[in-house]
Amino acid sequence: MHPILGGRMGDADRIDLSAHVELADVKATEALGVRIGRALRAGDLVTLDGPLGSGKTCLVRGIAQGMGIDPTVVTSPSFVLMQRYGDGPVGLVHVDAWRMRGEQDLSDLGLDEIMASRCDVVAIEWPKRIASALPQSLVRVTFTTGQQDTRMVHVEDQRARGGVRGD
Ligand SMILES: Nc1ncnc2c1ncn2[C@@H]1O[C@H](COP(=O)(O)OP(=O)(O)OP(=O)(O)O)[C@@H](O)[C@H]1O
Ligand SMILES: [Mg+2]
Repeated sequence: MHPILGGRMGDADRIDLSAHVELADVKATEALGVRIGRALRAGDLVTLDGPLGSGKTCLVRGIAQGMGIDPTVVTSPSFVLMQRYGDGPVGLVHVDAWRMRGEQDLSDLGLDEIMASRCDVVAIEWPKRIASALPQSLVRVTFTTGQQDTRMVHVEDQRARGGVRGD
């Protein structure tokens, strides 16, 4: 069992990211993001659910780092809805759907095409706002906050089971 994630490990391409862990601090959240980012491939979709300020953007920062992208460029995209990071072949598209209302917003942003092209990794905060327009998430991250500022995160990795990776 992996010491941090407590999840199952396969070969390098098939790491199962499923996990249920407490995030002691920002560093722990970023470290989990790095771990996830390393295992993501073009076309993967990550959804991030959880209350305001629970750590969704913080985890995306780690994901960027894990993908070899400068994590300092990751900011909360609330006002621009969508940002793309990275200058390599596989970028990270970061969406904050908090202000979005569904399918129309998705196509206005071109997000449906970005997802269909499967060229980048897409990470979406507040996916429930646009749930009807999203394909089923491949990596579903859910934050919960408890008393004394404790934060738990549940990661459900559906990539292998989904059979949509072409392998
Ligand atoms: N264990 C932790 N993991 C992540 N962030 C933490 C943790 N403990 C404290 N924090 C603080 O909580 C805040 C999390 O902010 P972040 O922008 O990542 O949240 P968010 O879920 O994206 O919020 P929003 O819903 O507004 O987009 C930061 O200010 C961070 O310093
Ligand atoms: Mg955020």
